[in-house]
Amino acid sequence: MHFFAALTLLFEAALLVQAQLNATIPSSKPGYLDVPGASLYYETVGKGPLLLFISGGNGAADIWRSIAMILSLNYKVAYYDRRGFSRSYLSVTEPQDYDHRLYTDVDDAYRLIKHLSNEPAIVLGTSSGAIVALELLIQHPAILRTLVSHEPPAITLLPDIEVLTVMQQEVYTTYRKFGIPAAMLKFATLYEGNLGAVAGLFSGMDPKISPFMAGNSMLWFEREILPYPLHEFNLTAMESNKDLLMLANGKETDPSALQYRTNVVLGQKFGLNVELLAGGHTGYNLEPQAFAKDLVLALGKRGSGMEEAIVGPIRYGATSLKKKRR
Ligand SMILES: *[C@@H]1O[C@H](CO)[C@@H](O)[C@H](O)[C@H]1NC(C)=O
Ligand SMILES: *[C@@H]1O[C@H](CO)[C@@H](O)[C@H](O)[C@H]1NC(C)=O
Repeated sequence: MHFFAALTLLFEAALLVQAQLNATIPSSKPGYLDVPGASLYYETVGKGPLLLFISGGNGAADIWRSIAMILSLNYKVAYYDRRGFSRSYLSVTEPQDYDHRLYTDVDDAYRLIKHLSNEPAIVLGTSSGAIVALELLIQHPAILRTLVSHEPPAITLLPDIEVLTVMQQEVYTTYRKFGIPAAMLKFATLYEGNLGAVAGLFSGMDPKISPFMAGNSMLWFEREILPYPLHEFNLTAMESNKDLLMLANGKETDPSALQYRTNVVLGQKFGLNVELLAGGHTGYNLEPQAFAKDLVLALGKRGSGMEEAIVGPIRYGATSLKKKRR
């Protein structure tokens, strides 16, 4: 008897804690969007203008979950697995057009935005996802409110393109010959400017993290590590949409790293500032509170119809962001 009474009490207490948690932590809604040759898995959370995150080499939605929760009072935040990664399954019957995979990725992002919003969206792409985002800016400016390019490894923009292209090809060849760990070592030298970050890169790609990890890493090495960084942009077309473009680098990223220098080059070419956001290359994941605050402030500073989005303070978590009066 006593035992069951105690158990009931415990159960009720657990429900109460759960209800309190439910009231404070917004929960994300999963969904699928069918696109030609694939089904895209996405999650949305919050209310407001659409803010879409585009993942980089990791490809998967999961790295955005913390920052999405933080920003969910300001935006309808959406993030997704790019096609072929994690839960965004490729069609079992239709072939993929790997010669134009970047354009397919751009088309997927376009379709997702149209599916989720009738209004232009804010899009933040990071790393390889920033290359997708920059091409989205060229192809579909009408659906964009602001396009944030966060540390794109766009080698073709840099003066040392020839050396970097050879190194990039070496990473790919190493992957084919010796597998992912050896290729990651080469990759880290190329991208981090030092080997200090190698441990982080390795642990981020550990197949033990999730059943999707091994497949994601292979897809990225096989299909993206050459064509994405070596993609040639139509800079005339990009420049004509530069009013929508926000360049953003990590405060802690080594300025000599190639993914940092690309935004600097674009900034000089187009007469744009490069905003500095918290953390390094993956600041949005490792320092979501600080990154969210920097991002909202940088978007607010543009005054591009963003006022409604900065009315709400970021209430979830430790930092509270007050509306900036202009
Ligand atoms: C909390 O949210 C979860 C998931 O939405 C739901 O299953 C559960 O019933 C909720 N619990 C309470 C006590 O509201
Ligand atoms: C680049 O874009 C400009 C402006 O949209 C267009 O006129 C030009 O034909 C494009 N160049 C190429 C090589 O596609």
